[in-house]
Amino acid sequence: MPQSPIAIAPTTEFIRVPTSILRTLEKTCVDLFLQYDKAELPVLYCDAGYPLSGDRIQNLASDQEALFVRASDYADFSQDLANSLEAALEDERLPVTNRYELLQCAVSVEIEHSLRMVNCDYYVAQTETIAGQIVGLFDGNQVLPAELFDIVRHDHNTFVHVTNVAGYVILLAKELGYNDPDELEKIAIGGLLHDLGKRKIPSAILNKTSRLTPQEWECIKQHPQAGYEELYLRDNLDHGQLMMVYQHHEHLSGKGYPVGITEEEIHPWAKMLAVVDVFDALTGKRPYRNPISSDEALEIVARGAGTQFDKEIVACWASAMQQR
Ligand SMILES: [Fe+2]
Repeated sequence: MPQSPIAIAPTTEFIRVPTSILRTLEKTCVDLFLQYDKAELPVLYCDAGYPLSGDRIQNLASDQEALFVRASDYADFSQDLANSLEAALEDERLPVTNRYELLQCAVSVEIEHSLRMVNCDYYVAQTETIAGQIVGLFDGNQVLPAELFDIVRHDHNTFVHVTNVAGYVILLAKELGYNDPDELEKIAIGGLLHDLGKRKIPSAILNKTSRLTPQEWECIKQHPQAGYEELYLRDNLDHGQLMMVYQHHEHLSGKGYPVGITEEEIHPWAKMLAVVDVFDALTGKRPYRNPISSDEALEIVARGAGTQFDKEIVACWASAMQQR
């Protein structure tokens, strides 16, 4: 049974879990908590092992958008979630749009958690699994750009940016003629990992609503290199994926960062990522400005064709988006 509220020691740390993702679980393997008031600590909602029927979660979801798990329980919870999510993603009775939403939700939970962690191996392992599932969902062309676009726009959370980008970059790669599932999976993984280096940027800078100082801007510009340095020794990532991390802010003209390389020096996967990264940055809500429409974003991206971005890639992205 749901428990009457029990205050938890203030030192306990919690991870936020969107209620919608709990629909994939038959029961919880860890204690779940809810927060009545943002100023207060979460309180116990139900014990580990408590069955989570659809109705119960449905009712809960109407007034609580998220529950919490203890950070110390997160590894168990995440494993349980990954197993049930896999089954949900293969359930053909669920519309593809719902499956993508669940996936995105799960990715955002994982990323939120991983960004708090120093251990990068864990992050890489999770993104690989999830990236494989992204590709699976896109197979058979069931997800049109319009549907994809609408769903990803639901959540403007900063963490969701990389899942948007992973979804977008696969869509773009397919439009450009990539069709090898292994290659697509690698590209999706690169998309999920591309901003890993932002963990090194203080959140006060990432969430700043006013103009960045030159020093803060220099700090932001470190993130491709920081991400690359975290990843380059791993034997489960290949060159193209690392270049997606390292080169996604480079411009064909040489005016990008961190190095200022040009045209042929930029890996094709990084060129694809650059387009969808900016597209998502423009169409998503950011602390310093409101989102713009996809048509306006396409126009802005088109203005950079040939100088900032590869022309063919921009044209392909516009044509994918115009299928809406
Ligand atoms: Fe970036």
